[in-house]
Amino acid sequence: MIVPGSASQALAAALAEETGRPLATPEFDRFADGELCAAVPDFSGDGAVVVAATDSTDAFVELLQLQDAVREAGADEVTTVLPYMGYARQDRAFEPGEPVSARAVARAVSTGTDRVVLVTPHEPDVAEFFDVPVDVLDASALLAEPLPAGLTDPLFLAPDASAERFATAVRDAYGGGETDFFEKERDYDTGEVTVTPSDAGVAGRDVVIVDDIVATGSTMSEAVAALHERDPAAVYAACVHGMLAGSARTRLAAAGVREVVATDTLERAESAVSVAPLVADAL
Ligand code: R5P
Repeated sequence: MIVPGSASQALAAALAEETGRPLATPEFDRFADGELCAAVPDFSGDGAVVVAATDSTDAFVELLQLQDAVREAGADEVTTVLPYMGYARQDRAFEPGEPVSARAVARAVSTGTDRVVLVTPHEPDVAEFFDVPVDVLDASALLAEPLPAGLTDPLFLAPDASAERFATAVRDAYGGGETDFFEKERDYDTGEVTVTPSDAGVAGRDVVIVDDIVATGSTMSEAVAALHERDPAAVYAACVHGMLAGSARTRLAAAGVREVVATDTLERAESAVSVAPLVADAL
């Protein structure tokens, strides 16, 4: 059975449809003291695919409970799909005394599953933190699909060098255009992001800025603002994980983004292309 976490209900339903597997209907309750209880009363069969974006601490606890609930209900084999893996960006101790949170989370997830499927983690190396086999999928190429056909001399830009692979994947899937990247610096005390534009000419061209995640929108809106004086035609923001926390959506609109394109790993963006076929293939 496909077993959804509360933040991944539409994606789990799409995955059930795609794979022809039955879809469980978990119940998400909370005790009077605030503790969570995720249950799967209708679970049947001997295998479970738990699909849960861990975009909050509650979602993470829910995932551990769902893994345990399906084992308790008789699942011999459990696969865990993390459409979005929270804490993946804390993949090293940046300051003395800090934890490698991605490793801590990966170890906990590993205790309840036989296999993990990750969709576009911030760095693919995060897979090494799990104690079970991991499939790492990259959904960035899917972002070409919702972009308008016939973009004018498109430029696919990444906000930093490490995201250039995502921009290249979208460019290749779109079927043409140039790629480049900005130099980015983030002040970890203030959260402020500064980007230095690439040398690529943007005047009169449609620009697609591609990143793995839009969280607060700082990176994306700074990148868009940096292009402003150089007179691009339209600017699109494309990301695999549309976290869109706080006022991110407003910041992007205010910066002049025509459209935000994302996948459904987080169920927040209005123009979302589904990763269900990609995950179904991996299953
Ligand atoms: C960081 O390197 C990531 O690739 C994203 O650029 C970053 O996490 C986006 O976060 P925010 O939207 O808060 O700037």
